[in-house]
Order: sequence, then structure tokens, then C-alpha cells
Amino acid sequence: MKVRLLRALQSQGVGSRKVCFHRLRRGEIRVNGEVCEDPEAEFETDGLVFTLDGVDWPYREHACLVMHKPAGYECSHKPSHHPSVFSLLPSLLLERGVQCVGRLDQDTTGLLVFTDDGQLQHRMISPKKNVPKIYRADCAEAVSDAQLDALRAGVQLNDEHAPLAALACERASARGLRLVLAEGKYHQVKRMVAAAGNHVVALHREGIGDYRLPDDLAPGTWRWLDSADLKQLEQPWPSAMS
Ligand code: URA
Repeated sequence: MKVRLLRALQSQGVGSRKVCFHRLRRGEIRVNGEVCEDPEAEFETDGLVFTLDGVDWPYREHACLVMHKPAGYECSHKPSHHPSVFSLLPSLLLERGVQCVGRLDQDTTGLLVFTDDGQLQHRMISPKKNVPKIYRADCAEAVSDAQLDALRAGVQLNDEHAPLAALACERASARGLRLVLAEGKYHQVKRMVAAAGNHVVALHREGIGDYRLPDDLAPGTWRWLDSADLKQLEQPWPSAMS
């Protein structure tokens, strides 16, 4: 597909029409390696790369990325007590309007997906799509068989009309458990574990669908997701890996 340069830059989060125009005219933007000052120039989107401030930004119709969320960050544009996870992203992504796919509590760590693709967001978080979210919870007390059974059978939470059950639940260590949920209700893991008679002291999201947080993605950093990653992220339960 062919796009006009000014429009393409806007779509990639470089800034308003005016900002893109001035940056082009100042020769600050390279297109496929060459400075181009013509806002009306047309380019093929396949393989198109912009370079801004020395950083390459391959053209992407949608922005989809994964972050290793560190503890002490809120999943909100208007955080109340801690910095925002959005402060860990470059301005181009914020300008594109990427949103987190489901929220993690400020003290929860692990896999957090961001996208500006509303349909992808819906496919990943709608309970009807049955996309599993995999959590590792460290608890205050030893995990008992009765607690595992209760989490599998369903526990009643205060403001829910029916009990909520884990898709799967296993002991990961004496005080640790791995829990797979189809939904992402407010504080769901912590409230379910409390209802089963234990207390979560640390929570980490390891995966969504068949996708797992990459081992080499350091806390606080992010990377792009490719189409194979997205396919794994949308894999419903029971998945190939379950
Ligand atoms: N469940 C919780 O209790 N907290 C999270 O951050 C995610 C799931």
C-alpha cells in the first residue's frame, strides 16, 4: 500500500500535522535511510522505515508490544501513588494512543501487552474468548490441597453473583501456586486466593494464551510483538501448551 509521507508520519505517532511538517522541513527525519523534506512524497508501506533522533521506526499499521512490568508502576494514564507504566514507553507510542490490554496492580510484575488495535484488545480480554492468563502467586502460608481444590471448584467473591473458578491451578512450591484464569476482574487472583484461605504476597503474570514473557526481557523494558506472537497471545484455552 502507498502512503503520503506526512500522513504516514502522523499515523506512526511522530506528532501533529504541524509537528511532522516542521520536522520534515528541518531535515530531521530519514525515510528508508534518506532525508526527505517533501510531505507529499509517496512511499510503499512494506519495508518503510523512518529514522528519528537516530532511532529506526519501521512502519506498522498497528502498534503491539510487550512489556515486562516492574513492581511499583500503575497501569493508568493518571496514576495516584506510583509512576505510570506509560512513562516507560517512548513518546511515539504514547502519541499513537497505545493502551494496556488488561491492568495489573501496581505491585504485580510480568507480562503486560500494549496496543492501539481495539479489536485485538477485545479478543484478548473478553471472557467469551477464553484466552488464559497465567499467574504465579507467592503466598504467606503453605498452599494446601484444600485451597487448590477450592480454587479449581470456584470461590465466592463478595461482589460476584456466582463463584469464580480457575481454569487450572497447581502448587508451584510450598508457598507458591500457578493459577490460570479466563477473566481479569479487579484484584481477581488476590481475592480468589484470600477466599480460599491464603494471602498473596507477590504476583507475577507469566503468560497469556500460549505466549510467555521472554526470559531476556528485563523488568521495565518492552519489545515489539510480531504476527506469530500475536497468534500465541490469542490462543484460547485449552491451548496447545496446557
Ligand atoms: N489479579 C490480581 O489480583 N492482581 C493483578 O494484578 C492481576 C490479577
